[in-house]
Amino acid sequence: MYTESLVKLGKVRSEIREIFEYGNKRKAEIGAENVFDFSIGNPSVPAPKSVNDAIIDLVNNFDSVALHGYTSAQGDAKVRTTIANYINNRFNTEIAPDNIYMTCGAASSLTIVFNAIMQKDDECIVFTPYFPEYGVFLERTGAKLVAVKSEDKTFQVDMKGFEAAINEKTKAVVINSPNNPSGVVYSVETIEKMCDLLRKKEKEYGHPIFLVTDEPYRELVYDDIEVPYLINYYDDTFVCYSYSKALSLPGERIGYIVVSPKMKDAGDAYAAVCGAGRALGYVCASSMYQRVIEKCIDDTADISIYKVNRDLLYNNLTEMGYECVYPDGAFYLFVKAMGDDAHEFCEKAKEHELLLVPADSFGTPGYVRISYCVQTKQIEDALPAFKKLAESYQK
Ligand SMILES: Cc1ncc(COP(=O)(O)O)c(C=O)c1O
Repeated sequence: MYTESLVKLGKVRSEIREIFEYGNKRKAEIGAENVFDFSIGNPSVPAPKSVNDAIIDLVNNFDSVALHGYTSAQGDAKVRTTIANYINNRFNTEIAPDNIYMTCGAASSLTIVFNAIMQKDDECIVFTPYFPEYGVFLERTGAKLVAVKSEDKTFQVDMKGFEAAINEKTKAVVINSPNNPSGVVYSVETIEKMCDLLRKKEKEYGHPIFLVTDEPYRELVYDDIEVPYLINYYDDTFVCYSYSKALSLPGERIGYIVVSPKMKDAGDAYAAVCGAGRALGYVCASSMYQRVIEKCIDDTADISIYKVNRDLLYNNLTEMGYECVYPDGAFYLFVKAMGDDAHEFCEKAKEHELLLVPADSFGTPGYVRISYCVQTKQIEDALPAFKKLAESYQK
């Protein structure tokens, strides 16, 4: 009677949600301060003051009917102009407002782009570890997710494996840099190699292979790391941007898609994005938050706190004997499970009230993800528990 695959999807919670719910139950039992919940990627830093100021100003001074009314489907023209100017100044691009489509965050940016370009039996390459929802989003289009294993330990792209995975059915490649869950950022050199290979393959197969760059963590990089802007490297690029993490607004659902103006038939590509947004019933992105973004275009939440957390966690855990991937960005630490079985390791961690996420569903068994978007004190308080957990494997 109901769509069977969706009944199934609705009944299984993601592993992350499962652990998060367990954490809430455990907190009620023994007190929140005694549970070290590192499960979920909810920003722990408040939105910047500019966001609150913008909301107050809009509510007090902006026409209320317009503020809460529908905007045009692709987003308010003035907002898109502000975003286009900002991107052009920052990345030296030539993006027009009509290359931008406002969305309800990266998740909807991705579903819209996938629906715009992926047809049944097309293949979409992702690199391990990858955000598990890619599989869910792609399945609705009838396309197939092809996971390419990244290099051991560094989790950089394995160029040979990448080349071997590309065939005439390959329609898209997803890049998520900074990466959830590894924190890895791809260098300019890596991006150039990937783009050279894709151009070669586009020629060989005579059709475009689109780069879909999933960028909710673009602003979350530490130590002056550069995140290349892919439109400057590859013409057939869709940028899926979100303010969820950059401005700490995940519940407000606001982001955008950029359709590269250099793409072949860029007008049709943009129309396909508009069509997908319409077919999926998005109508328009939040009218008020589009205007908030316009006012806070060059601001971010206080990201320095994540760097403090990263350094504290990485330095202490490596000293205790954990094998960790050094994260240049995002707010996750990717750690090799002691004993190699990530589920067993996470169960053992629970005995010390440490809630970690096994990375099997990210396509990388044997690893766990630790979200360090938490209060710094939680990390300090959790260190003895991490030590006991490590010692239990060193006996
Ligand atoms: C890699 C990745 N892509 C997309 C999303 C979805 O983000 P948004 O809140 O912008 O929809 C997330 C959220 O955690 C993510 O980690």
